[in-house]
Amino acid sequence: MAAVPPDASSLPRHVAIIMDGNGRWARKRHLPRQAGHVAGVAAVREIVRAATDAGLQNLTLYAFSSENWKRPPTEVGALMGLFRLYFRNDLEEMVARGVRVRIIGNRSRVATDIRQMIEEMERRTVGNTGLNLTFAFDYGGQEEICAAARELARAAKEGRLDPETITPELFATRLFTSALPEPDLLIRTSGERRLSNFLLWQSAYAELLFVDTLWPDFTPEKFLEALDQFARRERRFGSLPEAVA
Ligand code: FPP
Repeated sequence: MAAVPPDASSLPRHVAIIMDGNGRWARKRHLPRQAGHVAGVAAVREIVRAATDAGLQNLTLYAFSSENWKRPPTEVGALMGLFRLYFRNDLEEMVARGVRVRIIGNRSRVATDIRQMIEEMERRTVGNTGLNLTFAFDYGGQEEICAAARELARAAKEGRLDPETITPELFATRLFTSALPEPDLLIRTSGERRLSNFLLWQSAYAELLFVDTLWPDFTPEKFLEALDQFARRERRFGSLPEAVA
C-alpha cells in the first residue's frame, strides 16, 4: 500500500476525478442524500490537501454536470448551498496553499451570487503557482465540444479561418481547458464505469481507473494508491511497448 506519493517524475501531470457515490454512501447509513454530499465536500477538502502535499500540478474535479440540473430541486438546492459554503470557507486555505482555482462550465445558468464567488476565487488565486485546481461546474463535455466547433465555424464563415488549418491542437485551444495539459489519469469512484460527459475530448489518452470506493470514503491514502497504480502503468499513446519497438 502506498502511503507516500510517487516520485515527482512518475506523478501524473493532470488527474481528473468523477466524484461519484455520495447518495449511496448516505443510503447505506439511512441518512438523507444531502448528508452524502456534506461528506463529499469533506472528502474534496482532504483530497485537495493530499494533492498539494504530493506536489501534483493539476487536479480537475467533476462537481456538477450540466445534467445534474435534472435532479429534484431540493437536492440541487442543497448542492448549491454546499458549493456556496465551500467557495466561501475554503478560499483562504486555497490562497495559503498556493492553489490556483478555475471553474469550467456554463456560468450563465448559475445563480449570480455563486458566479460572483467563483470570480472572486479565480481572481484571488490567479497568481498562485502551486496546484491548478479546476472544478467542472455546470459542465458537459459534448456542450464544450459543440461550443468550440461553433466558434471555429463562425471564424471560418467570416473568413478569419481556413478550415483546412483545423487540427486537434487548434481545436483544443477553444476548449475550457486550453490552459491545462490533458488528464493522464482519470479516476471514477463508486464502481460505475462511465465517463458521464466528463472531459470527453481531453481524455483521449487518459489512463482510466475505476475504484469501488464511494466518494466520501475516498481518503488521501486511497488517492495516493491511485497515483501509485498510475506510476506502474505503461503508457503507449498508440505506439508499441518500449521492449518491442
Ligand atoms: C455524485 O454522487 C456526486 C455529485 C453529483 C456531486 C459531487 C459533489 C460533491 C462531491 C460535493 C460538493 C463538491 C464541492 C466541490 C464543494 P451521487 O449523488 O450521484 O451519488 P449516487 O450515485 O450514489 O446517488
